[in-house]
Amino acid sequence: MAENTSGHATGSTTQAGIPAVSDRNSLTVGADGPIVLHDHHLVETLQHFNRMNVPERRPHAKGAGAFGEFVATEDMSKYTKAALFQKGATTETLLRFSTVAGEIGSPDTWRDVRGFALKFYTSEGNFDLVGNNTPVFFLRDPMKFPHFIRSQKRLPDSGLRDATMQWDFWTHNPESAHQVTYLMGERGLPKTWREMNGYGSHTYMWVNEAGEKFWVKYHFMSQQGVHNISGAEADALAGTDAEHHRRDLFDSIKEGNFPKWDLHVQIMPYEEAKTYRFNPFDLTKVWSLKDYPRTKVGTLTLNRNPENFFAEIEQAAFSPANMVPGMGMSPDKMLLGRNFAYADAQRYRIGTNFQQLPVNKPKVPVHTYSFEGNMWVESTGARSYYAPNSFGDSWSDETGPVDNSWESDGDLVRSAYTLHAEDDDFGQAGTLVRDVYNDAQRAELADTVAGALSGVIEPVLSNAFQYWKNVDADLGATIEAKVKGA
Ligand code: HEM
Repeated sequence: MAENTSGHATGSTTQAGIPAVSDRNSLTVGADGPIVLHDHHLVETLQHFNRMNVPERRPHAKGAGAFGEFVATEDMSKYTKAALFQKGATTETLLRFSTVAGEIGSPDTWRDVRGFALKFYTSEGNFDLVGNNTPVFFLRDPMKFPHFIRSQKRLPDSGLRDATMQWDFWTHNPESAHQVTYLMGERGLPKTWREMNGYGSHTYMWVNEAGEKFWVKYHFMSQQGVHNISGAEADALAGTDAEHHRRDLFDSIKEGNFPKWDLHVQIMPYEEAKTYRFNPFDLTKVWSLKDYPRTKVGTLTLNRNPENFFAEIEQAAFSPANMVPGMGMSPDKMLLGRNFAYADAQRYRIGTNFQQLPVNKPKVPVHTYSFEGNMWVESTGARSYYAPNSFGDSWSDETGPVDNSWESDGDLVRSAYTLHAEDDDFGQAGTLVRDVYNDAQRAELADTVAGALSGVIEPVLSNAFQYWKNVDADLGATIEAKVKGA
């Protein structure tokens, strides 16, 4: 018998578990002769290698994450019956951070919005809150989302990212101004993922035991504080440590330095949505903290790194459609569009039965009437294949009004939202510039925008100057002067 010279006592196996003969030498006709096709271990190794990747996420491809727990520390029973938000409940959690536009190997420190995607493995099934590090977004209609993402990615001919394309999209869609002002400000470059806040961004519904409904916005406030880096630091890191954020998170947790966020909500009584000065379902707007202050709910701690990045992070699948009893959607059209998009992407990206993978599998029993398909790994035995059935296999049959509903009527139309008293595209962006940013932050914003406009061609450049003048006349004039070298 040939000697096993491997460093490992028992050697490796094929995927069928059979002892593999060599991970170093293929089977050949003599030492210098051709390789033979029946070297199954070689063939299997090459074939599997060709299939190692799954398609990267279309947006939010670059990211990483960690596991932890969410502890509900306050009494929220007045507002929601959701088990995970009842005082004292502890829920296992996964949080994946990401950038939006960059591909899977792109630098962590490119200026971008950051994803803040949470999965709560609750006692009532998985609840996913798929948010960002900003309280608003660029758009308010899902029809525009694929156009938006394409404009921020790469040109069809050169494969290059292109500032003209980015600004052309933003200036054609002025509702983006609030998010772009946020992005071009210092929070567009977080120092680490630990030192940024997370937001659910959309307005969601909460429902209590009595069936009373509330509108809520989720804010995860970093206990590490919010710290950002300059454009120069970000550029340097992009070249020297492209995985800066991923490394920081992994190393912090490995060293026992567990990051924490306090979850707060803004709560709006159901009826007030109709008359609030801003449309509370418009994702490009915030609710003023003066009108709706934050209320603490609990604390999230990340305390466990993934053991296998592919299995636990790359194959993690988050979807805004995953909600548990005690909560619901809202009339936010973006949220309703997202409700469809994610699981569809995951069926394509990972496979039909992606929810059976350990990272996505609920901690509660699943009793679905969806069966089989590629990579169906759960044997459901001989249980009933259909509902209703006469053989005692349970099925659901609620009828009548649903508790997390809202009123709507009218003909089918294609239309923008009805405007509320203070709704416009530039108002809240202007407030951010004038009332939230200080002089130094305003100056930095002007520098950043002027830099980001470098190379942008007409007519997009003039449209961008006008866009910023609409946000704030002085800021727009400063940006124009800087770009023109005045
Ligand atoms: C209509 C608007 C939107 C559509 C159609 C959309 C669609 C998608 C799709 C298809 C993915 C990839 C999912 C996957 O492959 O697993 C994704 C990822 C993501 N999206 Fe959206 N998105 C929209 C808006 C938003 C908004 C408003 C936010 C935040 C408030 C957001 C946050 C995220 C995050 C954080 C991820 C990464 C999730 C992860 O870590 O796996 N998206 N989006």
